[in-house]
Amino acid sequence: MAEHITINTTEDKESIYKELLPQIEALIEKEEDITANLANISSIVKEVFNFLWVGFYMVKNDVLVLGPFQGSLACTRIEKGKGVCGKAWSDKKTIVVPNVENFDGHIACSSLSRSEIVVPVYIHNEVFAVIDIDSEKLNNFDNIDANYLEKLALIISKKMDTLT
Ligand code: SME
Repeated sequence: MAEHITINTTEDKESIYKELLPQIEALIEKEEDITANLANISSIVKEVFNFLWVGFYMVKNDVLVLGPFQGSLACTRIEKGKGVCGKAWSDKKTIVVPNVENFDGHIACSSLSRSEIVVPVYIHNEVFAVIDIDSEKLNNFDNIDANYLEKLALIISKKMDTLT
C-alpha cells in the first residue's frame, strides 16, 4: 500500500506539483474504485496546498453531481453551462477565475471563496468529471496550476481507461 505522501511544502508550487503527481499516480495505481481514488486525491491536494475546497463534480444524466471532496458543504447539482464548473464542462476547457466576484454566473458555495480553478477530466474525449478547487486568496491560480492540474486530470483519465 502506498497510502503515504511525502512532500516538501516549503518549495515553490511548481516543485510541489512535480513531487505530488507521481505520488498520486502511485497511490491510485492499485485501487480500482474511482470514488476511493478521487476522495484521496481531494484530500491530498487540499492538504498539500491548504486550499479552501478541493473536489470533483461528476457528469451524471447530463448534469454535474457532487462527487468526492474535501472542504465544507457544497451545492450538489450544477447544470451544463452554469457556474464555473458547468462552463468548464460545456466549453471543454480549464477555467481560471482570479476573482470569483468578476465571473458572471459564479455559484458561491462558500462566501470565503475568492478565486477558483476548474479542470475537466475526460474519458474518450467526453467530460466525465471536473476538478474544482477554491481558494480563500484572490488570484491564487495561474498557468502553473492549470498545467499541472491538467496533468492530474490525464492521470485520472488513464486510470479510468484501464477500468473501462
Ligand atoms: N463555484 C462553483 C460551484 C462549486 S463550489 O465552488 C464547490 C461554480 O461556480 O461552478
